[in-house]
Amino acid sequence: MMPVDGLDRLRPFDAILLGAVGHPDIPDNVTLNGLLLPIRRVFDQYANIRPAVLFAGVPSPLADKKAGSIDMVVVRENTEGEYAQAGGFVHHGHPDEVAVQTSVFTRHGIERVIRHAFELAVRRAKKNRVTSITKSNAQGFSMVLWDRVFQRVAQDYPGIETESLLVDAAAMNFVRRPESFDVVVASNLFGDILSDLSAILTGSIGLAASANLNPERQFPSMFEPVHGSAPDIVGRGIANPMATMFCASMLLDHLGEAAASASVERALRKVLASARVLTPDLGGVSTTRQVTEAVLSAL
Ligand code: IPM
Ligand code: MG
Repeated sequence: MMPVDGLDRLRPFDAILLGAVGHPDIPDNVTLNGLLLPIRRVFDQYANIRPAVLFAGVPSPLADKKAGSIDMVVVRENTEGEYAQAGGFVHHGHPDEVAVQTSVFTRHGIERVIRHAFELAVRRAKKNRVTSITKSNAQGFSMVLWDRVFQRVAQDYPGIETESLLVDAAAMNFVRRPESFDVVVASNLFGDILSDLSAILTGSIGLAASANLNPERQFPSMFEPVHGSAPDIVGRGIANPMATMFCASMLLDHLGEAAASASVERALRKVLASARVLTPDLGGVSTTRQVTEAVLSAL
């Protein structure tokens, strides 16, 4: 999946813009554990930032939602938790085969991502709210530790309102009251699941961008659309390019190019608001190329 020195070749860069990678003939766990997931882990990209905004011109599958009413960011822990890849097979291939997969939660890992979420809520200066997601009623060790660390870190941010939800209730409330969320912080798996939900509530996963940040900048950060390689539409030229373009905007912001970042986002918002040149995932009939051209001329 990657040259043996692949990570060393990436290391000197400030940022990586990742295209969706996959192939129908290769099992996804091979593709992902050979490329995307090692990049996130080895470069300690522990804060996965996944904004979900309902833009003007984009219909939500929820009825009567006004543009801007949904404006949240899922901050997903990105290096440990349920994705730690600790475990193995015993009696591999035999009828009595056993698989063990262990989550790994460290106080250090939990604390740094929660702190990042609070800092983000302060910087956004919108609803000043951080919601923490766990399942501590059932997972009485890892998620209880998470809850305790959340309460501890919250004390350092008296200006930020907090909420702690179980992941099942969070799924319900994302649908029932999406307007109430500002910054949502969750473990690797819960953040993965909830960020697909937040993406579709704001129109399409074809718009969902993400940043895998190493906030200390010891290693490159990586910017990638939340969607995968979409084998069902391969070769048809109708993939929505906008998620990747929103990633480019986040990447520019990370590099300190705030003005350039804002102008890319403005161009995207303009094309969405005019609702004339859209790919089929947004109810349009345009191609990837036509949308790209529309964004470039808006830019
Ligand atoms: C995502 C994706 C990946 C993940 C998969 C492809 C391994 O779903 O970035 O959300 O679960 O992290
Ligand atoms: Mg996902």
